[in-house]
Amino acid sequence: MAKTPVRVAVTGAAGQIAYSLLFRIANGDLLGKDTPVILQLLDLPQALNAVNGVVMEIDDCAFPLLAGVVITDDPEVAFKDADIAILVGARPRSKGMERADLLAANAAIFKVQGAALNKAASRDVKVLVVGNPANTNAYIAMKSAPDLPAKNFTAMLRLDHNRALSQLAAKAGVAVSSLEKLAVWGNHSPTMYADYRATTANGESIKAKINDEAWNRDTFLPTVGKRGAAIIEARGLSSAASAANAAIDHVRDWVLGTNGGWVSMGVPSDGSYGVPEGIIFGVPATCENGEYTVVKGIELDEFSKERFKITLDELLSEAEGVADLLK
Ligand code: NAD
Ligand code: LMR
Repeated sequence: MAKTPVRVAVTGAAGQIAYSLLFRIANGDLLGKDTPVILQLLDLPQALNAVNGVVMEIDDCAFPLLAGVVITDDPEVAFKDADIAILVGARPRSKGMERADLLAANAAIFKVQGAALNKAASRDVKVLVVGNPANTNAYIAMKSAPDLPAKNFTAMLRLDHNRALSQLAAKAGVAVSSLEKLAVWGNHSPTMYADYRATTANGESIKAKINDEAWNRDTFLPTVGKRGAAIIEARGLSSAASAANAAIDHVRDWVLGTNGGWVSMGVPSDGSYGVPEGIIFGVPATCENGEYTVVKGIELDEFSKERFKITLDELLSEAEGVADLLK
């Protein structure tokens, strides 16, 4: 029997990330080659003409799995009965701009969109926030959607995770596909802590293989943390195809499972690892039957505790910065 189409809402549909993301969703990369999808696309009124153009191109691909497209500037229409909502639409960082500058510009958007999700989306909607600052935007959306389970709101740490995998594989001379058990903790920002103490390649400790603490501290962590800025510097635009790819990885694994493997996701804290409840914090997780489970019981050594505190403090100050908006 034919499957019921899954409703996938994407915001920022005229933007550069969406230009990579939408075609892959319609092609079945998100939910599998047997699952039809309906795309529900949101952007600002002045961008709808550009969205129309993107949809002409989507039409021209004749994707067999595409069961419908909605184009709108109304968040409630975009999120109506949405099973999945990928919130990309936001102002991206430009050259010389700090992520903190984005906070004020983008916070209001996520309040409105959280309220619209609360009103219109499926009660099981899986929300991924990509637009920066992603963790705090997800926090605002979650707080603005009191009738939806908090666990439905997640932020994207998967790009940091994939960047870290690629750097580790190159350093250790192993295949990316051989790596398991990487954890990226905290905020999607230069403070994130990519922790490879538990990572293995073909079952062997990658930390023992690399055996270079100075590289970890002085090269690896800064490279992963500042990769977004390096791409903006080189391209003049923020990362787009790799961000779209990470969004696909995040949602696909959440829906279809990780088969025991670890992925990094920004999820509302349940208080574990000393992170105050509700703060959207990057953690290692496994996914099964459409649910994620945080990997518990990882011991933090002194260096890890330091790094953990830096990224947590940043998130706490971002949460404080938007407290008034949430009253
Ligand atoms: P872009 O400027 O190309 O596109 C953004 C789109 O969002 C535009 O079409 C704009 O009109 C739309 N938009 C703005 N406000 C909106 C609103 N209120 N409702 C709906 N749409 C709205 O930007 P981009 O390169 O696609 O990046 C989008 C966001 O993703 C930025 O915030 C960027 O910093 C972020 N990003 C996050 C990650 C991550 O790993 N979490 C990675 C890369 C980029
Ligand atoms: C990235 O990590 O590439 C994005 O978050 C863009 C940015 O502003 O760093």
